[in-house]
Amino acid sequence: SAQSRVDDLLSKMTLEEKIGQMTQVTLDVVLRPGVHIDTAKLKQALETYHVGSILNTAGHALSRDQWKELITDIQKEATGHTRLHIPVIYGIDAIHGVNYVLGATLFPQEIGQAATFNPELVRKAADITAYETRAAYIPWNFSPVLDLGKSPLWPRMYETYGEDPYLCKTMGAEAVKGYQGSVSGAIDKYHVAACMKHYLGYSYPLSGKDRTPAWIPDRYMREYFLPSFREAVKAGARTVMVNSSQINGVPVHASHYLLTDVLRGELGFDGVIVTDWQDIKYLHDRHHIAATQEDAVLMAINAGIDMSMVPYDFSFYTYLLDLVKTGKVSVARIDASVRRILRLKEELGLFALPVPHTEDYPDFGSEASRQVSLQAAEESITLLKNNNAALPLKTGARILVTGPTANTLRSVDGGWSYSWQGDVNDALGAGHATFLDALRKKLGSDHVVYADSLSDALSAAAGVDAIVLFLGESSYAENPGNIDDLDLPFEQLHLAAELAKTGKPVILVLAEGRPRIVTSADAVAAATLTVYYPGNEGGEALADILTGDVNPSGKLPFTYPRYANALVNYYRKFLENGNPDDQHGFHPLYEFGSGLSYTTFTYSHLRLSSPVLSGNGSLQVSVDVQNTGQREGKESVLLYTSQWYASISPDVKRLRAFRKIDLQPGETKTVTFALTPSDLAFIGDDNKPVTEPGQFTIRIGDQTVDFTYQSSRSAKPSEGRL
Ligand code: IFM
Repeated sequence: SAQSRVDDLLSKMTLEEKIGQMTQVTLDVVLRPGVHIDTAKLKQALETYHVGSILNTAGHALSRDQWKELITDIQKEATGHTRLHIPVIYGIDAIHGVNYVLGATLFPQEIGQAATFNPELVRKAADITAYETRAAYIPWNFSPVLDLGKSPLWPRMYETYGEDPYLCKTMGAEAVKGYQGSVSGAIDKYHVAACMKHYLGYSYPLSGKDRTPAWIPDRYMREYFLPSFREAVKAGARTVMVNSSQINGVPVHASHYLLTDVLRGELGFDGVIVTDWQDIKYLHDRHHIAATQEDAVLMAINAGIDMSMVPYDFSFYTYLLDLVKTGKVSVARIDASVRRILRLKEELGLFALPVPHTEDYPDFGSEASRQVSLQAAEESITLLKNNNAALPLKTGARILVTGPTANTLRSVDGGWSYSWQGDVNDALGAGHATFLDALRKKLGSDHVVYADSLSDALSAAAGVDAIVLFLGESSYAENPGNIDDLDLPFEQLHLAAELAKTGKPVILVLAEGRPRIVTSADAVAAATLTVYYPGNEGGEALADILTGDVNPSGKLPFTYPRYANALVNYYRKFLENGNPDDQHGFHPLYEFGSGLSYTTFTYSHLRLSSPVLSGNGSLQVSVDVQNTGQREGKESVLLYTSQWYASISPDVKRLRAFRKIDLQPGETKTVTFALTPSDLAFIGDDNKPVTEPGQFTIRIGDQTVDFTYQSSRSAKPSEGRL
């Protein structure tokens, strides 16, 4: 059995072999120029240092044949020439599809996937990504990002499922299921091990800059940041990567509390904890909590890490060996980590089949997979404003296309594909459409004028019916995405202002990974859409939406701020008069959940199975949704609750459930949700979840209804609203 293979191996391994399993080096360490294995370097890594894992390196996209050669060379050495024949586990960041293999399917980035409000699509995208990752002979994906996208100052927001904890945990768990295909036990050859990242609190640095200190009280951490990890552990996530930064002055890589007490103890996680890039070393020379590199290793091991993403040398191995030999780390502690790593390799079938068979993956890059990506892009694109039915474009309309994000795949795919690992990945884009390419194809080149400068755009405007202006961001990954100013650059806002003066309707398309401040551009636009980073089919999806062939159905997974000093999430606290419909200093440009359609939906008859929820019962919440417009459309029905009074100042409202439905013109559907007391819980003053009795309001669309929760013990007298 799997267990006995692991135990058997462990009993035969030397201390050196065990510590090698805990070491992950970057591919660069074993390469010669041209992305080919350097046999001498590989032998040194695998035979001298017994390295158990390799991770991908920056700057290349290879064909599947090249990947096969690379992985085969590694596994032949590992399973053929090492004493115990243990295969290497190779890991990679396939964060929105397999962004390092030519011909693979690229989906919208997580932020766009969240905007679909369609968990099934998220699962399908992850399932296809897993298949294509395995088809490239790689069994471990450093995805999904489960960090809460609360702050647009933070450059990795596009890698998240947005600002809401419920949306984040729902989508994150679906991604884990899609990647792994099983909640426990063996992971088949079409699936990969998922990696929850970056545990915990990585997304909310005080300065907004990546990997700078965060200050997050424990209660707040548990209320907003922990739920997505808890849910992913329940979904069976086999591995986790640690936050590179520090929380309340403690680097997470050295936090026994977060890694061992909370993650292993409370969440029950028994998989592999891997560090982020060089983060043990940084305990010494970045965070200054370890006076020496050896102390840094000791701290990380004591905190609970299993594998060190080193990545350039073998110092982790050397220090850890020394720490065990001098009795500072026990062999039992090493065994616990090695057992988890070997079990992961076993579950992935790496012992049985270190390099999969090429012919087992006939659907790699298939048309069916492309269609899923197209659907995800279509369902993500979010129509925020549509004055006087400026969209869809009239049949035969001539348009001017302009703006810095119109004609670059960097703004279609975003980071990791076109930066970091994909810096040189223009090859990946071959055959894929920019927004401009797709519009030309859809409308015909004679209906599309492209101008790449303000003066050309101004002179071309006279001859067109509408201007489609593409603003936003290019691609960036990690620190290079840091910004000092949340406003879009002046030139972009100026372009919008000048084009508006032509009197032609401006259709503003925002291609960006986070809500930059676009207030002045939005003010002069007849219609505004955000496309996030929609992936390789994003151009086609946008063209279908602009022409009306597809009806938009995305909803914002974050709040668009109106001003730089107004970065407030929708689930802010009550401030003044206690009425959640008042804005109390909350003046977003567009609130979380905003998103229009070319049809209209009318909500009515919000009703409950009972005005009282008691004990551990459940409440049926129903609402009728009618398509009152002229065309078929999809609508995400979002259910929020507000507690009137609680021992911890309650959030104005919180998303508790959602469902996406499809309605024909005139059709009405009844949507029913079941709410239980645990759906209403918050983290109390003792850091534990609690549902307190009292009055609640449910909000769905423009409908509200109130109910009382009575706990089984003592029901608090109901209190009226102010
Ligand atoms: O997985 C990533 C992580 O998100 C950021 N640092 C590098 C890791 C490996 O590429």
